[in-house]
Amino acid sequence: MRYWLPAVLVAGVVASTPALAQVNAQQLVTQGNGRGATACASCHQANGAGQAQAGFPRLAGINADYLVSQIEAFKNGTRKNPTMEPIAKALSPEEARAVATYFAQQKIPVPPAPQVSPEVLQRGERLATRGHWRDKNLPACIQCHGPNGEGVGVDFPMLAGQHASYIQAQLEAYKNGTRKSDPVALMRTVAEKLSAEDMQAVAAYFAGLPAGGPATAGKPAAK
Ligand code: HEC
Ligand code: HEC
Repeated sequence: MRYWLPAVLVAGVVASTPALAQVNAQQLVTQGNGRGATACASCHQANGAGQAQAGFPRLAGINADYLVSQIEAFKNGTRKNPTMEPIAKALSPEEARAVATYFAQQKIPVPPAPQVSPEVLQRGERLATRGHWRDKNLPACIQCHGPNGEGVGVDFPMLAGQHASYIQAQLEAYKNGTRKSDPVALMRTVAEKLSAEDMQAVAAYFAGLPAGGPATAGKPAAK
């Protein structure tokens, strides 16, 4: 009797380990997990390109650890979104890691040409590369997000080639406080200094940059 219980436990662990270790990321992306996480591909596409008009962000080529941190943020409520919250909550940590790795490894799509005037684009470039120190004490975006918006490590996500509509929506979310996933309010401090015109301009600028620097976990740059 004394040895019976441990033996059952060991057998249980052995039986369940393969299931944990081998999350089928492809299947999860295209079919969901059957427990509330619907197929990521229906919104983000199987290649992670996302859908600009619908506000579904590109996930392809973005640092896997960053993607995991955002799934965590939807789970713990520091990031609010009625669509993503229930999906994130339905993912086990192993599944979150597997899908994040899958998307990080997808090829980064070539961004479409910007749909704004050259003046707006210039304003965006100025904000992105120089900030607005004199009146607003606003640092340049590239100081944190990398010289080409390619992202830096786990904490500073890639912006290059992300959909403008999504970048703009996130800047608004930081500004109005619905997104609080940024450590020590780094992005909220930046976003509160941006006007609606600033946001539109800087979003258009980053959306048009070819993505894929060495800091990304994915494939080499798609030029
Ligand atoms: C019904 C549409 C839909 C489905 C299905 C969906 N997502 Fe999302 N996802 C969104 C939307 C919308 C956002 C942007 C949320 C916001 O504005 O904060 C998002 C954002 C994200 C982000 C944050 C990206 C970033 O750059 O910060 C991650 C990570 C993510 N989704 C992963 C997933 C994964 C993994 C799955 C599948 C298990 C999935 N999503 C399924 C709509 C969807
Ligand atoms: C002081 C450092 C810093 C500066 C300067 C900065 N950012 Fe960020 N940014 C961050 C951090 C950290 C995050 C990730 C926060 C999180 O996890 O929510 C982030 C996230 C973002 C996101 C969300 C990306 C996603 O995939 O969801 C956008 C969009 C963004 N920044 C745009 C900008 C723009 C535009 C500027 C310049 C006007 C800028 N940032 C300047 C630190 C910075």
